[in-house]
Amino acid sequence: MNFTLTEEHHAVQEATRDFARQELLPGVIDRDREMKYPAEQVKLMGELGLLGMMVDPKYGGGGMDTISYVLAMEEISKIDNSCSVIMSVNNSLVCWGIETFASEELKQEYLPKLVTGEWIGAFCLSEPEAGSDATSQRTTAIDMGDHYLLNGTKNWITNGGSSKLHVVIAQSDPSKKHRGINAFIVETSWDGVTIGAKEDKLGIRASDTHTIMYSDVKVPKENRIGDEGFGFKFAMKVLSGGRIGIAAQALGIAAGAFELATAYAQEREAFGKPIAKHQIISFKLADMATQIQAARLLVHKAAQTKDLGLDFTRAAAAAKVFASEVAMRQTVEAVQIHGGYGFVKEYHVERLMRDAKITQIYEGTSEIQRLVIARDILRKANLY
Ligand code: CAA
Repeated sequence: MNFTLTEEHHAVQEATRDFARQELLPGVIDRDREMKYPAEQVKLMGELGLLGMMVDPKYGGGGMDTISYVLAMEEISKIDNSCSVIMSVNNSLVCWGIETFASEELKQEYLPKLVTGEWIGAFCLSEPEAGSDATSQRTTAIDMGDHYLLNGTKNWITNGGSSKLHVVIAQSDPSKKHRGINAFIVETSWDGVTIGAKEDKLGIRASDTHTIMYSDVKVPKENRIGDEGFGFKFAMKVLSGGRIGIAAQALGIAAGAFELATAYAQEREAFGKPIAKHQIISFKLADMATQIQAARLLVHKAAQTKDLGLDFTRAAAAAKVFASEVAMRQTVEAVQIHGGYGFVKEYHVERLMRDAKITQIYEGTSEIQRLVIARDILRKANLY
């Protein structure tokens, strides 16, 4: 495999690195503490083209490949993971899903608003009783002739309070089980859409995670994405793309914590020399660097597989499960290297450690990623 980055890739990497340091770093601690949605920062991300990176320029997008997207996600995630999850959901779960599977009319109507950040999108699959078991949708979308009537509750919705568009997964015909599920584009200004409670979270605290209620929402027939009954497959395919974004987020968290730990270890002296010169610390840095590079290779492999038009389900799951576990372990190490300073907010690593945890949970837990990988192994060996 050739993972050589092009000049364009390097340009994306440098531009997002500079942007994250100049525009996202100031105030990141306060936004996290106060759970303050980063409205100004998201606006700037839209202006820089970070919210619709892979969308065709004919809809106003950046027309970039998935490698560019993961490079940008890594850089943003080193600094601000509330911003990077907003970016990931808008790019992967919303824009990519609409561009790949929706009708031309829906693409023309919605993508130009989403790529600029004029509208932010949310992906509404999870329910109080349908998390990992996503086929158990209780939200219903009943066919009423010229529209569907949508009723139900979704939870853990990233961008829940800030979004103007929801991609909603709902059951239209329970007798068909997952083959009765549909996906729809719903505007949050429509009658019957209620934004519920905002979650007070361990990490990514500045992103707005809400419960959403739909009560007799009339969804025009033409707002269904794909054919009747395609909704569950749509959700699975879109989530595979999303998992590449979250894997890149986890990679950025690990790499950000590593950069901070390396700098600190070179500055901080103990027993007459920088702690980086003590073998016990330098070996920690060596292990961290190796694990992070392994995670990066898996993330780039998943992105490349998607760019080649191949089935990237297993590559995305492998990248996410590995990178998120690296993020969790390496942020704990980074806090340890910082000693007491790692335990206070000013040094950033405690926030990265809190942010790391969700990458093992959202868009499919580590257990679900292992299930996806195992099923693929057994299916290919004709054992499943
Ligand atoms: N691509 C296309 N089709 C797929 C697919 C894929 N990757 N995975 C499954 N399917 C299809 C299957 O082929 C099957 O269809 P047919 O019967 O017609 O062939 C159908 O979907 C059902 O599949 P399974 O029998 O495998 O279903 P299951 O219930 O046993 O398991 C699962 C499916 C993999 C566990 C799935 O439910 C899953 O991924 N769960 C996790 C859900 C998840 O990731 N939630 C995250 C919420 S979103 C979020 O976090 C957003 C946010 O705001 C950040």
